[in-house]
Amino acid sequence: MNDDPISNDSDNPCFEQLLAVLPGHGRRRRRLLQFGLGSAALPFFGWPALAATLARPGIGFSPVAASTEDAVRVPEGYALQLLFAWGDPVSAGPAFRGDAENSAAEQAEQAGMHHDGMHFFPFVSQGQASSTHGVLCVNHEYTDENLLHPDGRADWSPAKTLKSQNAHGVSVIELELKGSGADRRWQVVRPSAYARRITARTPMKIDGPAAGAGPMRTADDPDGKLVLGTLANCAMGVTPWGSYLTCEENFNGYFKGLPTPTAAQKRYGISGERAGYRWHEHDRRFDVASEPNEVNRFGWVVEIDPWNPIAAPVKHTALGRFKHEGAMVTLAGDGRVVVYMGDDEPFEYIYKYVSRDRYDAGNPASRAGLLEVGTLHVARFAADGRGQWLALEHGQNGLTEANGFVDQADILIRTRQAADFVGATTMDRPEWIAVHPQSGEVYCTLTNNRQRLAADAANPRAENAFGHIIRWREGGEASGDAAAGRFAWDVFVLCGDPQHADPARRGNIRGDAFSSPDGLWFDRDGRLWIQTDASGSVLGRGDHERFGNNQMLVADVFSGEIRRFLTGPKGCEIAGLTATPDGRNLFINVQHPGEVAGGRANAAQALAGSGWPASQFAELTGGRPRSATVVIRRQDGGVVGA
Ligand code: FEO
Ligand code: CA
Ligand code: CA
Repeated sequence: MNDDPISNDSDNPCFEQLLAVLPGHGRRRRRLLQFGLGSAALPFFGWPALAATLARPGIGFSPVAASTEDAVRVPEGYALQLLFAWGDPVSAGPAFRGDAENSAAEQAEQAGMHHDGMHFFPFVSQGQASSTHGVLCVNHEYTDENLLHPDGRADWSPAKTLKSQNAHGVSVIELELKGSGADRRWQVVRPSAYARRITARTPMKIDGPAAGAGPMRTADDPDGKLVLGTLANCAMGVTPWGSYLTCEENFNGYFKGLPTPTAAQKRYGISGERAGYRWHEHDRRFDVASEPNEVNRFGWVVEIDPWNPIAAPVKHTALGRFKHEGAMVTLAGDGRVVVYMGDDEPFEYIYKYVSRDRYDAGNPASRAGLLEVGTLHVARFAADGRGQWLALEHGQNGLTEANGFVDQADILIRTRQAADFVGATTMDRPEWIAVHPQSGEVYCTLTNNRQRLAADAANPRAENAFGHIIRWREGGEASGDAAAGRFAWDVFVLCGDPQHADPARRGNIRGDAFSSPDGLWFDRDGRLWIQTDASGSVLGRGDHERFGNNQMLVADVFSGEIRRFLTGPKGCEIAGLTATPDGRNLFINVQHPGEVAGGRANAAQALAGSGWPASQFAELTGGRPRSATVVIRRQDGGVVGA
């Protein structure tokens, strides 16, 4: 999801030297074209030496052309299978109705809308992880009410509210690869003991420092430790102990705020004007005037056990509250758990959590509390290619009662304000973060930010229409340890259109052009997969005329070469990706096919923007455009992308 307004009024860097030379430097007052792209592409400390020691995976397919077709296109030699679309039953539940007449109760047993992050968890037998049988967790980020109900948003009702809430959350489904030769196909196992839907109404626990704190208590939950539901589930993460993390992103849009919001509500974009989902009309939890604290119980990272369908999900407050894009988990050298997270809004921050205790794969008991007790940090990028992680810990970095931060719960509930206070660097919409499987180098997509007027080193273009990917090495040149307090960084790629009339907008891609990087993932061999999310309001026109539909590309991070692997149908974004352990089956999500400017379809002309997937898969009939999971396999059975 995209096109967020700005909530950050702080004057965070914007670097000091920039401020010194510019009277009235505020980023909204003065446009600096670019920071100097030469200095943006700083040499990456230690990188050449590292490149010589690691195996380079190589890219082995012919690129696909940019496309405006209403279909998914993949390279020659690859095959595509539609697996799991909005409305498909997760188990032996009700079938999808193309006229959107499924009830709210039926929706609670079917795939939600707007698939985003996901992960394939293999069954393991005698130490061997299966590549033909597993459980897939899929996020359903948000809904388009005009497609969800036969007559769209007309006559808004309790039943429509309930169906909308049931179309959010996460699907857990069981998958198996069946058949042989050309007939091999993935099937959703129905019925399945593992299958479940987690929705915006599923009971879940709250843990960590903010659990039970005053601002987390509501009339329905006076203890502040049990909340109904998760929503705005964008990207994801996976823990070393095999659980799934789903991340609550644009939660603010579900709440009807106060005419005069508090400073904290304002900082999170919760206002009287925005309540596009209209849930508050029939569910008082979403009306801030009626239940002022419910909004504090969203904006967290939520852990789900994919193997235990009766286990309640857990919201981990230690990981902070903001518009969580994803939660990339890795381990420090000593076994501490490190989680990288972006806050996706213009001028927001990049965060890192480090657990207090260590994970020991040989001791299952060691996993307890790892996402409950630890230190959250926020990134400051200096102009010299160095950076620092600033602890958001009560009593440190000025986060004291005297400065308005009562305790650690307060800091976590108001994470953005704590990050403002310590002087974090405002970024161009941090989306996914990926860690190179061998080197530990960290890559982060900064999707775009047309509202940036003053460039800086880490966000080197004003009016950043196309986005960029930044990367860093923890500990600078030497260490590479994920728990380090400092890092060295550079810009991996500036996206753009090489044919653009304005040189500042051509970018520096070595290979196929793209805009608005979002999904980001390293495969097991170290190929970097990049998914794009240029908004429906810009796709195919103006400076986005030559990019075609949203797409997925593969980068060789050693040479910098980037090759286009896939193009999506009209109006979609490509979101979410995961593979079987053998790398031979790649799952991706096509989200919101047919999205138009403004984001909502016309209920009376549901197919106006796109007819996908029926436009591509003959076994389906029209009805509605549907977000869906697609599986990609090589016809010769080889590793995808190799
Ligand atoms: Fe849900 Fe930032 O994408
Ligand atoms: Ca996005
Ligand atoms: Ca995203």
